[in-house]
Amino acid sequence: MRADFNSRVAEQGPAGGWSAERVHQAMRSRESFRFYSALRTCSQDLLYQTVREPIERSSAALINEATRLARRGTRSGAGGSLTLDPRLPVPRSVSAIDIHLMPGSYHTEYGADDLTMGAVYEQRLAISTFGVFGPNLDDIGQSIARFMRLLHPGWRPQRILDLGCTVGHNTGAWKDVFPAAEVHGIDVSAPCLRYAHARARLQRRAVHYRQMNAENLDYADGSFDLVFSSMFLHELPRRSLARVFREAHRVLRPGGLMLHMELPPATQLSPYDSFQLDWDGHYNNEPFYRTFRACDPRQLIIEAGFAAKRYVQHVVPSWSALGATAWRRVARAEEPSVDSPQTGRLARGVRWFCFGAWRD
Ligand SMILES: C[S@@+](CC[C@H](N)C(=O)[O-])C[C@H]1O[C@@H](n2cnc3c(N)ncnc32)[C@H](O)[C@@H]1O
Repeated sequence: MRADFNSRVAEQGPAGGWSAERVHQAMRSRESFRFYSALRTCSQDLLYQTVREPIERSSAALINEATRLARRGTRSGAGGSLTLDPRLPVPRSVSAIDIHLMPGSYHTEYGADDLTMGAVYEQRLAISTFGVFGPNLDDIGQSIARFMRLLHPGWRPQRILDLGCTVGHNTGAWKDVFPAAEVHGIDVSAPCLRYAHARARLQRRAVHYRQMNAENLDYADGSFDLVFSSMFLHELPRRSLARVFREAHRVLRPGGLMLHMELPPATQLSPYDSFQLDWDGHYNNEPFYRTFRACDPRQLIIEAGFAAKRYVQHVVPSWSALGATAWRRVARAEEPSVDSPQTGRLARGVRWFCFGAWRD
């Protein structure tokens, strides 16, 4: 598709030059684009069908196993907790559509104590990411937590909060890297949190999971040293995004850090790369994806009450792809340049884009 664009389309540039949307309009009718779109849509359909069937068959066994792990954890002192709130309204941005065409979205429950959507999310991620997320599917958390420790050797966050944690892949990574920290993960989806809790117990990580809306956090002012999220913000409506940022600012202690791993912003990528990344925003039931990518991340942190000069952004190399020694060398030389074919892409040698701010 890129070769088709470069050799046959690029030179007929529109007046005013290319933008992601102009590339999209020019490519829509091209065979390369239609073939790419058909392949992605069909393979994703097949993926959901494939993972759902065995999960539905083993639903009762999954519930039994989660119950056993919850009891065993309590007896063995493995720590961590699960607190659900059945009265919490699920936001319409989650319940009104099957997000990224995932049947049932995140929140659907097919019976008491159900974990189906947590299991579907994990299996879907394992298959669709081709190993790029590492053996425990937590490369984002492992890479970014290690990167922050490398960059700030004296920094030891004592309380860490992960927003929109789903099944807690990247929440648990913070516990690995900062074992003395009290780590919390929140999400609106009960089946995902049940799965997260069972997974954490199985992996002996003490994480506290709570069903909560990130727009309205039930935590005291100034009670966290780090508020983190991964792949969360692009699924929020613009108004919710602003509320989530203000809440993050409120619950952070002075000197605390807000950090979000996300899709690279449109303003920092070439029009072609941005067009390719935006595919999901057009065709994959991701209604807020392009709105998020169009935002200026620096403006977002300022609106939330952070000082502009406290803005940070990083492009973090993959820990699981490189291994400890090479990773440390590459991470030390990190430049916060986003426009590389690996940044935010499911490519070998992926680099994770993240941004945020320190609270004064
Ligand atoms: C793409 S997933 C996040 C993936 C996860 N952080 C990871 O690293 O694997 C988005 C999650 O956000 C949750 N979510 C959406 N809106 C929310 C809100 N307002 N408050 C809390 N969680 C929310 C969804 O239920 C879903 O689990």
